[in-house]
Amino acid sequence: MKKIDENFYRLLHPKVVFLLTSISKEGVPNVMACAWATPVSEEPPMIIVCVAKEHYTAELILETAEFAINIPTKDMEKAIWLCGSKSGREVDKFKRANLEIIPSTKIKAPLIKGCASYIECKLHQTIDAGECYAFLGNVVYVGIDERYFKKGVWQGDTIPMHLGGKRIVYFRDEKKS
Ligand SMILES: Cc1cc2nc3c(=O)[nH]c(=O)nc-3n(C[C@H](O)[C@H](O)[C@H](O)COP(=O)(O)O)c2cc1C
Repeated sequence: MKKIDENFYRLLHPKVVFLLTSISKEGVPNVMACAWATPVSEEPPMIIVCVAKEHYTAELILETAEFAINIPTKDMEKAIWLCGSKSGREVDKFKRANLEIIPSTKIKAPLIKGCASYIECKLHQTIDAGECYAFLGNVVYVGIDERYFKKGVWQGDTIPMHLGGKRIVYFRDEKKS
């Protein structure tokens, strides 16, 4: 049998890259960059985020059963790389990346000020998926900045998307809404 190409998953990229926030049971938050996520149900609203088992974020989501997706804007690219290369076990990434924490609406894990949108989730189920946990979450709150997401669609050229490796891209929408 032909060997599976090691980059097979990038056939499904580019993917919206987001800052995934979580919190410890002592109330200390963490953030990591993440791209592997998908909606799985509209009714009830549910999504899956995939996090490597070794990441501190995985430990925290297992511990407190909640997480938040913060979709950053173009000017936050530097923070994406920092949050995607250091572990919260060693570094306070909020401080290091100059990210300001704001309270969530329905969960304890915080949000990050200035993002284009927010999705707060409570953990519904954890699926063991190879090197990752696929965390299936119930969406309990959504916040949208309509400068970036108008009439139910993203505006082109506004939100970072992960192509793979060190490459972030932006899409162009010919039919601007
Ligand atoms: C653009 C980008 C996308 C990433 N996507 C994922 C992802 O989907 N799942 C994952 O487990 N790690 C992903 N990472 C890697 C984690 O963000 C990284 O390993 C991070 O340091 C983990 O932090 P933590 O130990 O504080 O949880 C991504 C990194 C970058 C830069």
